[in-house]
Amino acid sequence: MTRNIAILGSTGSVGRNALRVIDGLGPEYAIVALSAHSNVQLLAEQTKRHEPKFVAITNSDYAAALRELIGDLDVEVLSGLDGLTEIAELEGVDIVLSAVVGSAGVRSALATVRAGKRLAIANKESLIIAGELLTKAAKENGTTILPVDSEHSAIFQAMLSGSHKEVRRIILTASGGPFRKATVEDLQNVTLEQALAHPVWSMGPKITIDSATMVNKAFEVIAARWLFDIPVEKIEVLVHPESIVHSLVEFVDGSVIAQLGKPDMRLPIQYALTYPSRVPGICERLRLEEVGKLTFESPNLEVFRGLSLGFEVARTGGTAAAVFNAANEAAVEEFLAGRIRFVNIVELVEHCLNKNRVKRHVSLDELLEADAWARREVRNKVQKCVGAKS
Ligand SMILES: NC(=O)c1ccc[n+]([C@@H]2O[C@H](COP(=O)([O-])OP(=O)(O)OC[C@H]3O[C@@H](n4cnc5c(N)ncnc54)[C@H](OP(=O)(O)O)[C@@H]3O)[C@@H](O)[C@H]2O)c1
Repeated sequence: MTRNIAILGSTGSVGRNALRVIDGLGPEYAIVALSAHSNVQLLAEQTKRHEPKFVAITNSDYAAALRELIGDLDVEVLSGLDGLTEIAELEGVDIVLSAVVGSAGVRSALATVRAGKRLAIANKESLIIAGELLTKAAKENGTTILPVDSEHSAIFQAMLSGSHKEVRRIILTASGGPFRKATVEDLQNVTLEQALAHPVWSMGPKITIDSATMVNKAFEVIAARWLFDIPVEKIEVLVHPESIVHSLVEFVDGSVIAQLGKPDMRLPIQYALTYPSRVPGICERLRLEEVGKLTFESPNLEVFRGLSLGFEVARTGGTAAAVFNAANEAAVEEFLAGRIRFVNIVELVEHCLNKNRVKRHVSLDELLEADAWARREVRNKVQKCVGAKS
């Protein structure tokens, strides 16, 4: 039976890898919808090559340009964020791969699980903001959320070795990013170029900065809490610079089950699409004799304050995670635009978390209100600092 796939964010790093994976999987896997935010050129090329029935351009300003580029191809063009939700709800879509960046993915992710479809989720920000709502809706609608993040995919696979109540702890591995050996003082002078130079993974700019601050790992802790219904006390982070062991699960009897592979996003993407089957794919094979040595160390929580904040946020729950995510998203934008220093990212996040009055058992609208508040707070604070300097 054909599996019809929609890729939200097909022009990004994960989206482009997903297209390569699907090309390699053969005719049983069909691409029925694609989306981009503003990269019309690439979206038009992808549309010509993969012939989806629907394409969405979330920045509506580019809709006319996209229509012009795709000419008289038989494809419906949707625009705005609603376009993503429309795609998620399409009858002809079986799997939605959410590979957009940031909070823009939340509504379509919820729409996917509410429609009872498989959500293959790379967009971890949705899980940070609305993990409780998403996992609850997936359960109620009898569907599965398949993680695409390599660490969560590894845990998902390791969890199949035992029952939920037999899990003693989850161990998320982290490459440590470009500043693994840095001191608090070293981080003061980090440049944009250094922060964008990830030693192992080639990814979009936002997640690359999140990896450098280790806020990305904090996000994974929060997402794991929801994806695997595990209290945060049972989640640990272990630095593993080679990024071969993608994460581990320890069971009550002392057995530790890990998933290994080359650091290549195409493997977890493929598994999220083919699960429960495993099929040959395009990924290079792991040869441990070529790797030689695997090393592990504890993360430095003093240097990577963003990681310890993540554990606190995971324990707090409610609107704290939405604020954590939004403040970080806004601060990373400011850093990428050259308006703040690297260390200011986590300082701004911490400022917002301290100022936020946490609300619990909230709706999506309330979570998005907290999100909007944190973004305003970051912008105001940055404007004040920039204003004070000029
Ligand atoms: N890259 C990885 O290896 C990796 C690994 C694990 C998890 N993830 C997660 O996967 C997600 C995507 O990461 P990425 O590295 O692929 O990012 P990316 O390369 O920056 O791509 C982001 C995609 O989202 C689209 N987009 C940007 N802003 C948008 C908006 N406001 N509304 C809707 N769509 C928007 C982009 O369109 P345009 O191209 O038109 O801007 C692009 O298609 C992130 O949540 C990240 O944390 C990524």
